[in-house]
Amino acid sequence: MKLFITGATGYIGGSVAARLVAQGHSVRGLVRDRTKADLLVACGIEPVIGSLDDERVLAREAREADGVVNTANADHLPSLLAMLEALKGSGKPLVHTSGSSLIGDDARGNRLSEAIFDEETPFVVEAGKQARHALNGTVLAAAAQGVRTVIICPTLIYGEGRGLNPHSIQIPFLVEQARSHGVVRVVGQGLNRWSTVHIDDLADLYLLALEKAPAGSFYFAESGEASFTAIGEEISARLGLGRLESVPAEEAAKLWGPARAYYTYGSNSRVRAKRARRELGWTPCHESALAWIRHEMTL
Ligand SMILES: NC(=O)c1ccc[n+]([C@@H]2O[C@H](COP(=O)([O-])OP(=O)(O)OC[C@H]3O[C@@H](n4cnc5c(N)ncnc54)[C@H](OP(=O)(O)O)[C@@H]3O)[C@@H](O)[C@H]2O)c1
Repeated sequence: MKLFITGATGYIGGSVAARLVAQGHSVRGLVRDRTKADLLVACGIEPVIGSLDDERVLAREAREADGVVNTANADHLPSLLAMLEALKGSGKPLVHTSGSSLIGDDARGNRLSEAIFDEETPFVVEAGKQARHALNGTVLAAAAQGVRTVIICPTLIYGEGRGLNPHSIQIPFLVEQARSHGVVRVVGQGLNRWSTVHIDDLADLYLLALEKAPAGSFYFAESGEASFTAIGEEISARLGLGRLESVPAEEAAKLWGPARAYYTYGSNSRVRAKRARRELGWTPCHESALAWIRHEMTL
């Protein structure tokens, strides 16, 4: 297939693009930095210079491709609308990347939630994530207009990226913080838990979704879960540091910004990827972010 991908230089997009190229697909990738464009060529990806604000470029690329993978930004509506409009009536796939902070709660690190969501559980969406929820609704609704829209909603992703950016978001930031401050910091008591998924398993899911996901489908991507205390302790052990430091969510918000404090590190986000296993035959091979930190994480 001829595929167009946004976020081609990123962690998720680079890894998915690498997998698509390895499968023999022809991949064109959006890139806003000319130096990175040359690096993409070396990865077998044809660069398309532009940004998410270049709606004409996005529409043209979507029209000329057999399918689109959108990984640049889970919350950027205008770019999505431009691509969906261009694909109207085509029956082609558009796989959009969301993120499971969508159902993140307001635990501020101090509570393990019993709530576990799968694709059939009615979602509970905090005010701060309503815009993402609405955007997802727009993507799914485009199925009625002849676009084979699919949403993949990854949880905490770990593992080394296969593209230009090898680093995910949550674990690398905690490692960087620990290196700067000599201690791993968790929000509140760190009792909150996130589901997790390995980047290689996630890349498999994108392939399956492109091949056979029905129009208007939503899939969580998860195979395991861990609390931030457990994650913090593994990082601390790998770095040879001592006990964790608890930072109240309000203080973390001042240090790291509210989104990081309340959602990325302070919330529970527990999901089960039932639909991808049942409907697409997705069989993730990695099940423990903790084991990855202990045995594989590059320092
Ligand atoms: N990593 C996770 O654990 C995770 C889990 C769930 C959901 N998500 C969501 O998935 C999305 C991608 O995450 P990621 O970890 O792959 O992030 P990333 O490594 O920062 O990659 C983002 C990519 O999008 C590109 N991009 C961003 N804004 C752009 C713009 N305005 N125009 C053109 N390109 C743009 C970046 O290009 P440059 O190289 O030029 O910066 C980069 O290629 C985010 O919305 C994130 O919230 C991530």
